[in-house]
Amino acid sequence: MEKRLQSLKQEVESIINGVSTLQEIDDIRVKYLGKKGSLTEISKQMRDISPDDRPRFGQLVNETKTAITELIEKRMERLKEQIKEQQLKDEIIDISLPGRMISTGGLHPITETMDFLKDIFIEMGFDVAEGPEVEFTKYNFDALNIPDTHPSRDLQDTFYILENVVLRTHTSPVQARYMEKNKPPFRMICAGKVYRNDYDISHTPMFHQMEGLMVGENISFANLKAILEQFVTKVFGKTKVRFRPHFFPFTEPSAEMDVECVICKGKGCRVCKHSGWLEIMGCGMVDPEVLKNVGYNPEEVSGFAFGMGIERITMLRYGIDDLRAFFENNMRFLKQFK
Ligand code: DAH
Repeated sequence: MEKRLQSLKQEVESIINGVSTLQEIDDIRVKYLGKKGSLTEISKQMRDISPDDRPRFGQLVNETKTAITELIEKRMERLKEQIKEQQLKDEIIDISLPGRMISTGGLHPITETMDFLKDIFIEMGFDVAEGPEVEFTKYNFDALNIPDTHPSRDLQDTFYILENVVLRTHTSPVQARYMEKNKPPFRMICAGKVYRNDYDISHTPMFHQMEGLMVGENISFANLKAILEQFVTKVFGKTKVRFRPHFFPFTEPSAEMDVECVICKGKGCRVCKHSGWLEIMGCGMVDPEVLKNVGYNPEEVSGFAFGMGIERITMLRYGIDDLRAFFENNMRFLKQFK
C-alpha cells in the first residue's frame, strides 16, 4: 500500500512537467484526485486495513494527496505564467518599427511643365487667365478673325458640339474673352486643354497649349522678341532663337519662333529633322481686326500674342521622343517624374 502511494506521487512527478495546457493539468487532477481518481480508489481500501494501521495509512494518504495537489498547483502556476509571457510576446507592438510607406503620386509631366512655364510669365508680371474648353464659335473663330472659309473651321479638324459650339481648337479664344473683360494695358497668359480631330504618331485629339497676350500703348514687335527670348532662355538656357515669317489670321505680322535644337545644339539630328532648329511657337502682332472685334481702337493700342504646344516643350525638356507616352498612363513612365 505504501509503495502504491509512493508510485502514484512519482507518476505525477514524472508527467506533470510534460503538460503544456491547462486542460491537460485538469485531466491529471481528475485522474489522481477526482471522485473516481486513483487516490480516492486507494482510500476506499481503508476499511480492509486493521484498525491499528489505519491512522498511519490515513496520514500517508493525506500526505500523498497534499504532495500531488502541490505538484499540480505549482505546475498550474508556472503554466499560467508561461501562457501570459507568450501572450505578451505575441501581442507586442514594436513602436520602433518604421511605418508602412504611403506611396505618393506626382504631377504629370505635362502639368509640371505647364506650371513651370506659367511661373516664368508670372515672374514677368503676366496675369493668369482661364477660359472654357467648350467654346462658342464666336470666340474660337470669329473674334479671332478666322473667316468661315478658313481651313481650321473644317469639320475635319474641329469637334462640333452644336453649330455654334465647339471644343476649343486652341487657347486663343481666351484672348478675346480676356480683352472683352479687361482694359489695356495688361499682359496675360492662359494654359489648358485644346481639341482637334487628329490622331497619329505626332497628334492626339486632346493636347495642351499656352497662350500669351500683351496689349497697351506702343507695344511693338521688339517687346515681343524681348519677352519671348527671355522666356526661352529660362526654359532651355541660353540658346539661339530665330523668327520666321508666317501667317495666322489673328496676328499681323505673324512669325514662328524657332530655338536652336536643344538635342544636337544646331548640328542637325533626327529630332530637328537635320535642320538644327526646332519650331516652338507661333506669335505676332495682334491683328487690328481682332482689336476692333473686342471694341479696342487699334489707333490707340497695340499688342502681341503667342501660342505654343506644351507637349512639344515637355518632350524637349525631358528628351521624350514619343507623344503617346503622355497619354498611356504607364506608371513606370510617370513615376520617373515624381
Ligand atoms: N492658336 C495658334 C495655334 O493653335 C497658335 C498661336 C499662334 C497663338 C500665334 C497665338 C499667336 O496667340 O499669336 O496654332
